[in-house]
Amino acid sequence: MFTKRLEYTDEIGAATAPLYDKVSDQYKEDHWKALAPYVYEINKLKKEKNAVILAHNYMTPDIFHCVGDILGDSLKLAQEAAKTEADIIVQAGVHFMAETSKILCPEKTVLIPDVKAGCSLAEGITAADVQLLREQYPGVPIITYVNTTAEVKAASDVCCTSGNAVKIANAVAKEWGVSEVLMIPDQYLAAYVATQCPDLKVHTYKGQCEVHERFTGDDLRKIRTQDPKVTILAHPECPQDVLEEADYAGSTAQMIDYVTDEQPAKVVLITECSMGDNISKANPNVEFVRSCHLCPHMKRITLPKILHSLQTLETEITVDPAVAAKAKEAVDHMLRLS
Ligand code: 13P
Ligand code: SF4
Repeated sequence: MFTKRLEYTDEIGAATAPLYDKVSDQYKEDHWKALAPYVYEINKLKKEKNAVILAHNYMTPDIFHCVGDILGDSLKLAQEAAKTEADIIVQAGVHFMAETSKILCPEKTVLIPDVKAGCSLAEGITAADVQLLREQYPGVPIITYVNTTAEVKAASDVCCTSGNAVKIANAVAKEWGVSEVLMIPDQYLAAYVATQCPDLKVHTYKGQCEVHERFTGDDLRKIRTQDPKVTILAHPECPQDVLEEADYAGSTAQMIDYVTDEQPAKVVLITECSMGDNISKANPNVEFVRSCHLCPHMKRITLPKILHSLQTLETEITVDPAVAAKAKEAVDHMLRLS
């Protein structure tokens, strides 16, 4: 790794003790001694450089609880990026999230600790594909999931996240005075929106999330047969038969709110694995049954890479200003409607 291994000292131990309290269920003391020096250095550098770390709910607990300043789903991270007064944004998440921050804050330095942290949805569609779809569906508003590149956003009418997709579909159809929308690129998110908006015809595209598409309705039926009282929460990027078996579908933040508010005795989160790890300590009366998949892109982000990013200001996200201006219209439109 580019950053030389940092040594643990008693001073670092004392300074990071309150943070270790937040994650002690996840890391044994020896493991924490390897992480703490990075946590310490990152938090020091953030202050010196007036930087802020936006951490998605799929970040590992060391990042999420110990160095993240703004935590949440894609919607919250975009909303907060638009408001931050920091000079530097470090996106502890994937590339499209960092691009969204840059689109919303063109004057700020936006960094991604690993530029290869992509997303199968973002990689599955281009701006040229969107143009073809526009010709195929004339007069139909194009609602684009934020899990896309800046160019794709720029070619769209409005963006959405998993947390507001239903709201945006209804609002945009009303604005345009139409009963059809085109929701791209996630076919499963679009199918979910169609179930929630029976008066709308929801067209879609062939994209999917490589993590959530691996869950099946059978997986959920097996979980329920083993424990009929278990509560199953699933992300709307999951295939439709999965969502039909689940008790609740929602964005990562909505799943966290559900657990916090409802306190189910036993819960399964049908999504990325760090979700359960990040909220188990705050919900001691909830038993988390593990049935999750790792997102290889999210997992590229680590504490040493965040530290390196802050030290070197690499890798800086750039978006062509003309593309960024068009993409901002679509993102701003979403933020106004949500
Ligand atoms: P959320 O907006 O629900 O956090 O989802 C982002 C994501 O990439 C899910 O796979
Ligand atoms: Fe993309 Fe799926 Fe990973 Fe989310 S979980 S970043 S949608 S590949």
